[in-house]
Amino acid sequence: MLPYLLLLILAHAGWVTTADLGNYSLVKNIFILAGQSNISGRGGVINHSLRPGVVNESWDGVIPRECESNPSILRLSGGLKWVEAHEPLHKDIDVNNTCGIGPGMPFANTVLKKDPSIGVIGLVPCAVGGTSITEWAPGGFLYRSMIKRTKAATRGGGKIRALLWFQGESDTKTLEDAKMYKVRLERFFNHVRHDLGMPNLTVIQVGIATALGPYMELVREAQREINIGNLKYVDAKGLQIGPDYTHLTTAAQIQLGQMLADAFLRPN
Ligand SMILES: *[C@@H]1O[C@H](CO)[C@@H](O)[C@H](O)[C@H]1NC(C)=O
Ligand SMILES: *[C@@H]1O[C@H](CO)[C@@H](O)[C@H](O)[C@H]1NC(C)=O
Ligand SMILES: *[C@@H]1O[C@H](CO)[C@@H](O)[C@H](O)[C@H]1NC(C)=O
Ligand SMILES: *[C@@H]1O[C@H](CO)[C@@H](O)[C@H](O)[C@H]1NC(C)=O
Ligand SMILES: *[C@@H]1O[C@H](CO)[C@@H](O)[C@H](O)[C@H]1NC(C)=O
Ligand SMILES: *[C@@H]1O[C@H](CO)[C@@H](O)[C@H](O)[C@H]1NC(C)=O
Repeated sequence: MLPYLLLLILAHAGWVTTADLGNYSLVKNIFILAGQSNISGRGGVINHSLRPGVVNESWDGVIPRECESNPSILRLSGGLKWVEAHEPLHKDIDVNNTCGIGPGMPFANTVLKKDPSIGVIGLVPCAVGGTSITEWAPGGFLYRSMIKRTKAATRGGGKIRALLWFQGESDTKTLEDAKMYKVRLERFFNHVRHDLGMPNLTVIQVGIATALGPYMELVREAQREINIGNLKYVDAKGLQIGPDYTHLTTAAQIQLGQMLADAFLRPN
């Protein structure tokens, strides 16, 4: 018992220090986060602007308990190094936007709480605000960057456990995009699985709840009709939206993170 405890303590201390050295071999469970602003995270982002068209935003810096850092949660930085994860998770990825609280940290904290033996979690943030499914098309910048980051993340032998995907709001603006959504999304998922050599990679998709355009129901239908195996679905409908009418609040992001964790841990 005693040597085991000692080992645990040493290992724990090791996580904190070696994480900063970019030690790839510590991460056991890799999760990809991709899509647009709501998975990047805008919880706690405040618009100070009084003038139409002028952008003056900042993040309030509030980090609730569910989103706190933990030595067992690392993130792959923009420079492809494992570092201890902290909010805002997408700060050096979604660089042209003001990032805040997203679902990634509450997701990881919930998974660790409910399955303490799972081992170190490595988050690979890849989301960029405002992006449409065509911008995620295989071969494009976002796609290539996501695949490159994910492959770098697996260097130490960690296993890719799931792709967390929350996107589609930008595809509700025109009828053509909404109609094409299913085909484009299926193609995206199939290519990701092929390029990562994981034909059965778990995908957890978030159903969009309100839209940036008039064709939300078409996109929601497309999301539900996606015909690939091992796809899980959680619904953002009913989650609280912030004063900007555009983004999930911090409280809603915590709920979403917990929903994603439950979906991941639920047996198929
Ligand atoms: C990374 O961690 C492993 C396991 O704890 C250890 O064997 C290895 O020496 C570490 N490598 C670096 C570069 O810190
Ligand atoms: C942005 O908002 C902050 C807080 O209200 C204010 O102090 C600052 O002057 C504003 N900046 C600009 C460029 O408007
Ligand atoms: C910020 O507030 C200004 C003034 O009310 C508004 O015109 C602008 O659209 C807002 N920006 C965002 C991103 O919500
Ligand atoms: C940020 O904006 C610059 C300039 O428009 C662009 O070149 C770059 O690709 C953008 N980065 C991301 C992550 O969207
Ligand atoms: C795919 O993965 C799920 C969940 O891990 C598993 O239940 C299922 O049997 C797998 N299917 C195949 C064909 O490997
Ligand atoms: C973020 O999600 C909320 C809830 O689904 C939705 O109302 C909003 O349109 C989304 N915002 C963006 C920019 O995608």
